[in-house]
Amino acid sequence: MKITASASWKALEAHRLSLSPLHLRQLFARDPGRVASLSLGFDGILFDFSKQRIDSTTLSLLAALAREARLDEATARMFGGEKINASEDRSVLHVALRRSSGPFPGAELDVMPEVLATRLRMAAFADRIRSGEALGFTGQPIRHVVNIGIGGSDLGPKMLGCALRSVSHPALDVHYVSNLDGAQLAPLLQTLDPRTTLFLVASKTFTTQETMLNAQTARNWLVANLGDAAAVSRHFAALTAKPERAVQFGIREDSVFPLWDWVGGRFSLWSAVGLALMIAIGPHAFADLLAGAERMDEHFRSTPYERNLPVVMALIGIWNTNFLGATSNAVLPYNESLKYFPSFLQQLEMESNGKSVGVDGQPLACSSNPIVWGELGNNGQHAFFQLLHQGGRLVPCDFIAAVRSDYPLPGHQEALLANCFAQSAALAFGKTAEEARSELEGTMPAAALEALLPHKVFAGNQPSSTLLLERLDPQTLGALIALYEHKVFVQGVIWGLNSFDQWGVELGKAVASSILPAIGNPELAAKLDASTQGLLAFSRQHLG
Ligand code: F6P
Repeated sequence: MKITASASWKALEAHRLSLSPLHLRQLFARDPGRVASLSLGFDGILFDFSKQRIDSTTLSLLAALAREARLDEATARMFGGEKINASEDRSVLHVALRRSSGPFPGAELDVMPEVLATRLRMAAFADRIRSGEALGFTGQPIRHVVNIGIGGSDLGPKMLGCALRSVSHPALDVHYVSNLDGAQLAPLLQTLDPRTTLFLVASKTFTTQETMLNAQTARNWLVANLGDAAAVSRHFAALTAKPERAVQFGIREDSVFPLWDWVGGRFSLWSAVGLALMIAIGPHAFADLLAGAERMDEHFRSTPYERNLPVVMALIGIWNTNFLGATSNAVLPYNESLKYFPSFLQQLEMESNGKSVGVDGQPLACSSNPIVWGELGNNGQHAFFQLLHQGGRLVPCDFIAAVRSDYPLPGHQEALLANCFAQSAALAFGKTAEEARSELEGTMPAAALEALLPHKVFAGNQPSSTLLLERLDPQTLGALIALYEHKVFVQGVIWGLNSFDQWGVELGKAVASSILPAIGNPELAAKLDASTQGLLAFSRQHLG
């Protein structure tokens, strides 16, 4: 049965009719206990969803929807190692990567020995780099680490590397290179000393075009500068599920760190793909990150839906998308260290749930993931927030802030928090024409006031949640990321799709490989569509 035909879906549709005429101002006015009943706490995280356009009944009805979608069974299947990624015939066990002990998921299929062994190898490797013990080909200690990867092999570690810069090794520079555009790698190479640089080639498949081309260019640069191909073995390591391909590339077997086909790329930061991050923050802090995620896993598995952070967050998203009609979701961190969080979430959410076919191969009966976008909130206020306030579109927002700053400057943190809280309040409550009029009265002639008035009105009623963290430490960040991961899983279950494949990215890769040889070959180009032919003809004229 399609979820849209379920009793709980129909109950939610009926409930929307009675609730949607109420403005957030009214919802707050009629329930003084609203903030207490519509917020949750977990390990240094306050999740305030009182500014969503819901009430306690909405939450109960949404929880019933999760029950009707058999979320508990789906969760048990994932944690039990069943092959829930059916289109790729794979288990989904990234949760194993943050477990502190085994066996997991069960004695019959126990992945923990290899998980723990790899974690120990990573820690030993990271410690040797951090202490200066690991020497390059010319006998000098490693000082620069360059992670070459893209998508899940880049976004998570890069995002956390930035978020945890304040606890990172002061004498090691860790860089992330993902883009095919030489404008990223070329200037970086100019700043690096090949004698002290280590490249980590992060690719689950070890075939991704961007990563392999960047890795090859880095290899050529290293060999050209150190004058010996043997140098590669001291300056390259690989993080991959295809170790044989890494060895073929010239990487020493003991510098190859495995992941497994049951780790999806966008869920892989907890695996060997996190090595650059572990080198930056150290194995202890990395263990704290895993511990935070593991605590969120346990919370997710064991907490009733109405008090379960990932479930509630997912259900609010379902409400906004499928019942209120939102088509996008803004992620607005009020914390410079979280500047890469929106792009990390874009992959996590849109690559997972940006689908319109269900696990049964049939078209979904409802919309799935909204467009996730975002930017540092404080910067966004002076750019696109105008549309959020007065653009007339429904754009639910996730505000994220940390109370304590790692970079305290007098007055800055208080002002930052005030802005964050002000924006969600202004979006929720707006400003009525009466309020605007009483502010303007006496400041200008009546006719001018009436002309200006419509521009000074804010409709409000823009829903948002605020995730307020005590501080941005590894444990809290681990929990925060696991929170969003499980949110994605819950939504996928309710929409009835497979959150763990990504067939939609394949067509573009295949088309690119047919266009590449045509760039220098007009005969091949002639077989392509007319627009591509035109673009190629122009490129051929101007390519250096
Ligand atoms: O093209 C999409 C994708 O497969 C992502 O799912 C993945 O995170 C990224 O490319 C990189 O893949 P790999 O780690 O195999 O290089």
